[in-house]
Amino acid sequence: MTMFSDTHTAQAKAILAANDRGGYTVPTHGLYPFQWNWDSAFVAMGFATFDIDRALRELERLAEGQWADGMIPQIIFHTPADSYFPGPEVWGTRHIIATSGITQPPVFASALKFIAERADVSFEPRIRALFAVADRYHRWFASARDPEATGLVSTLHNWETGRDNSPEWDIPFARVPETTTTVIRRRDTGHVDASMRPTDADYRRYIHLVDLYRSLDWNPAAMLAKTPFRVADIGTNAILLAAEEALLALQPRFGASNSEADIRARILRLSRGLSGLWNADHGWYLSRDLLASAPIAVRTSAGLLPLLTNVPDRAHVAHMSGVVDAHLDAVCMGIASTLPGEPGFEPKRYWRGPVWAIINWMIAEGLGRHGHPALAERVRKSTAEAIERRGFGEYFDPTTGEALGGATFSWTAAILLMLRDQ
Ligand code: GLC
Repeated sequence: MTMFSDTHTAQAKAILAANDRGGYTVPTHGLYPFQWNWDSAFVAMGFATFDIDRALRELERLAEGQWADGMIPQIIFHTPADSYFPGPEVWGTRHIIATSGITQPPVFASALKFIAERADVSFEPRIRALFAVADRYHRWFASARDPEATGLVSTLHNWETGRDNSPEWDIPFARVPETTTTVIRRRDTGHVDASMRPTDADYRRYIHLVDLYRSLDWNPAAMLAKTPFRVADIGTNAILLAAEEALLALQPRFGASNSEADIRARILRLSRGLSGLWNADHGWYLSRDLLASAPIAVRTSAGLLPLLTNVPDRAHVAHMSGVVDAHLDAVCMGIASTLPGEPGFEPKRYWRGPVWAIINWMIAEGLGRHGHPALAERVRKSTAEAIERRGFGEYFDPTTGEALGGATFSWTAAILLMLRDQ
């Protein structure tokens, strides 16, 4: 490691320390003042490169938000703050700590495995407790989001995908009315230039769904029955299957003895569902609009996340790695969230083109797992170098490498620590 990167890892640790609010880490100061589900899972892995106790604490604080039915919400509002919309009063949920009413991609168990691989025996009881949290979370996905055992879990809000305004959601959203019963007071555009954020019309549709689900008291069956927005998100389904595989690996040491058969059954089911999302015409894994029973024909970086699992076969991997190789020649850094040339590509607008360090990291893991170490290394190197050169932005313009969105972002700092730790 050079002196140069030592300085950057020190900066990354300083960002995590500055965003620490007492055992949990906010994504960034100002724009996102609470604990976010998948942000915290990546942050926990970042901490695990130098502080196992703090890494586990991050997941323990996230687990405080877990609902009685097993769901881990997208946002845990540990302490009130007026700088974010929609706040707890808009969600109107019942958990003892205020939370939002939807979830996010379940990176939790994969983060737990990452930590456990670096932890000594003194941490075993805490890892055991967190294993049980993850197992309940995964059971919730199976029962609440795939009650008919199709093998694909449903996502009922674009915020659940973590890729808020991806062009994938344009068509399913056309079905969602723009009417709301809530007064919209956007706070994000006070922190970040509006040209980089979702539009006002997008926002009204996001809140329309929140209003509807709140009126159904967040009952999973009622939400599934009444929703005008129901997709099988390629990202969530791939990340969930990878998390189930992580849980299975942890099970002999940390899980209840009767949990193994259930995990195996869920893995089988999800593998079947995920393999059905391969689209031969596009040569890519695609999300699916479940209400229209149609694939969503936009190639995104999330379409590479099945590489985190055993599902892709050799031919699919060969095809995807060829596209990644050519893509890396054309852009400055990693993989664009929406591939350039796809409908809806915009290089600066959030999930419609910008590169996100967390996605790059997962893709690199997946390429490594499927026998492409050199390509994985190119993704890692371009990501680490962009962060070191351009700063710890929320995301990056794939055409210029410019850091965009919120600054001093926790998960970008965490990813740099993970990349420099390898
Ligand atoms: C945005 C992102 C989401 C992230 C959150 C906090 O909503 O789209 O993925 O979890 O911000 O950083």
